[in-house]
Amino acid sequence: MTENIQEQIYTLVQELKQHNYNYYVLSKPTISDFEFDQKLKELELLEKTHPGFILSDSPTQRVGGAPTKQFKQVAHKYPMLSLGNTYNETDLDEFDLRIKKTIDSAVNYVCELKFDGLAIGLTYTNGILTQAVTRGDGMVGDDVTENVKTILSIPQQLKPGNYPATFEIRGEVLMHKATFQKLNQKFAKELEAKGYDENEIKDQLYKNPRNLASGTLKMQDPKEVAKRPLDAFLYYMYAEQELKPTHYEQLELAASWGFQVDKHAKVCKDIAEVKEYIQHIESIKDDLSFEIDGIVIKVNAIAQQEELGFTAKNPRWAISYKYKAASALTRLRGISYQVGRTGAITPVAELEPVLLAGTTVKRASLYNADEIIRLGLCQDDFVYVEKGGEIIPKITAVATEKRGLFSNPYAFTETCPECQSTLIRKEGEAVHYCPNESQCPPQLIGKIEHFIGRKAMNIDGLGAETITGLFKKGIIQNYADLYQLQTSDLLGLTFEVGEDGAKKTRSLQEKSVHNILAGIEASKQIPFERVLFALGIRMVGETVAKKLAKHFGNIDNIAQADIATLSGVFEIGEKIAEQIIRFFSDPNNLQIIEQLKSAGLLFETNNNQTQLLSNKLAGKTVLVSGTFSMSRDALKLLIEQHGGRNVSGVSKSLSLLVAGDKMGPEKLAKANQLGVQMISENELLEMLK
Ligand code: IVH
Repeated sequence: MTENIQEQIYTLVQELKQHNYNYYVLSKPTISDFEFDQKLKELELLEKTHPGFILSDSPTQRVGGAPTKQFKQVAHKYPMLSLGNTYNETDLDEFDLRIKKTIDSAVNYVCELKFDGLAIGLTYTNGILTQAVTRGDGMVGDDVTENVKTILSIPQQLKPGNYPATFEIRGEVLMHKATFQKLNQKFAKELEAKGYDENEIKDQLYKNPRNLASGTLKMQDPKEVAKRPLDAFLYYMYAEQELKPTHYEQLELAASWGFQVDKHAKVCKDIAEVKEYIQHIESIKDDLSFEIDGIVIKVNAIAQQEELGFTAKNPRWAISYKYKAASALTRLRGISYQVGRTGAITPVAELEPVLLAGTTVKRASLYNADEIIRLGLCQDDFVYVEKGGEIIPKITAVATEKRGLFSNPYAFTETCPECQSTLIRKEGEAVHYCPNESQCPPQLIGKIEHFIGRKAMNIDGLGAETITGLFKKGIIQNYADLYQLQTSDLLGLTFEVGEDGAKKTRSLQEKSVHNILAGIEASKQIPFERVLFALGIRMVGETVAKKLAKHFGNIDNIAQADIATLSGVFEIGEKIAEQIIRFFSDPNNLQIIEQLKSAGLLFETNNNQTQLLSNKLAGKTVLVSGTFSMSRDALKLLIEQHGGRNVSGVSKSLSLLVAGDKMGPEKLAKANQLGVQMISENELLEMLK
């Protein structure tokens, strides 16, 4: 029995340490705060009853995780403590009672938002920001001063006021929801251009604003930090002298010196008012422009705070109230499997419809086989579904107490749900794939959809539903078949649009047919690099396709290149090279390419475009900005003909900026600031003579 407890303690410590590491160092937590707290409480209880087994590295014996290595490490003058958590009214009453045991006089509380960001300590010396340090492990943090200076709401110099010669102010750095969404969309596009598939993109993207804020603040280059706007709210001051007698007045004082403080902060005369505040904020919290994960309740009078003091980990005068994510219990009807364009298989939980935060939830993502094992899903299980920061609901736990005696665990499907091929899973990869690239229907449809996409062949008039309709009717089997389509194949063709329940039938009329055929015809002028991207070779996104097209000049050179030649091309790694070899060793693909060639698609770079006239701009990155006597495209072509590479933004590595009329003032200012060489159109022409 005791051996068992010792083992349980050991396992919990290892688990919690890993979660701390995921949270603080990697900024990629894999469990919710609530689950973490439950585990911590379980450990605390076991340690309390078996103190002989307490391990020195137990997370209960320290404040948090480990600071990262890259930044200068700074010891906190005042340890950065965490707060005890409460989840319900009883917990709040207990907090109030504990306070009243020590304090005889009346106690006022200040309620504030609990910002879901990263704690920061800012030191000001004679009104100037001199140091910014992250929480780290609570004792030692990272010096991120230069990064923090990019945050516009943090004053580098205070407004005139009666501030102490040196003091520290603590607060939270965060990213607004809208910024997060914009940046994540941008990252997704960049990953897509690099050839990552949907699942890989989902894996790589930041899961919520807090993770992205954390990743940003820990970047090495402040210029990169500046591109990802952060914000900060300040909520506590430390100084040698007394500033104001109450916390609320100190917040007002901080605001008068130029700090952004919480406008929702409110003095509550008792715990009943605190509860009202909590309820009120719960009703408006989704409308805030940033995420919060609860409320912080602080004793208002500083003298009372001092009297209450601290435990090893938390102040006794403050606590947090955590909102639970909207959650519902429902029955799992089964697991279905979706097949993506690349053959990646995503398991989806099919649920008995349940109302959750205003919408009916019928499905939840299960990500991959490991998630099914992690949850321990069995047939007919009742599961808890949560809508966290992410849009797609997820299953957080199984109600095991509702499970029947003889229910069987789910095993991940071994065969493709669409074509019954045996699935493969490469060592070290989380995702299963269907290897039947050339016959599996959703893969074939997905490939055609990718082919017609805006960044690929940009075939106007054709949409996903038409493609599926044409495929299901056997009119097209692959993207080469598009070029055989006739009016008679399309006119009057009926197919279904819309989701289950709201399905409608549409039929193609003359105008649509005309548009589709015109779009297909126009696609024959699409340059080779985009045709190459459209082929849908795994890991060959827009950027890689461009590089390959430029380096090899035509499709045959690429098809014949061996792995060494391919991976010798700048930035084409061995993994990408392997995928290219795989694609061209499939006779089916070669046959499709032959069909496309005879349809008249461009399979070589247009020699006029890239024919080198000189190497005068070799190795140089060039940005053209503004209007010129010739078209911008013509100017860009000229730059390429002389070995230069056109880029779209001003950065430190930009070699040359060709400035035209009406150039954007921001670009001009940035180029000036970075000392980028600027020339006029005439000077460029002179240079290239
Ligand atoms: S006060 C001595 N106020 O929550 C404790 N913390 O779980 C001072 N946080 O490390 C903390 N909003 O990063 C305080 N209005 C607020 C807060 C807040 C978010 C964070 C902070 C702290 C963590 C504790």
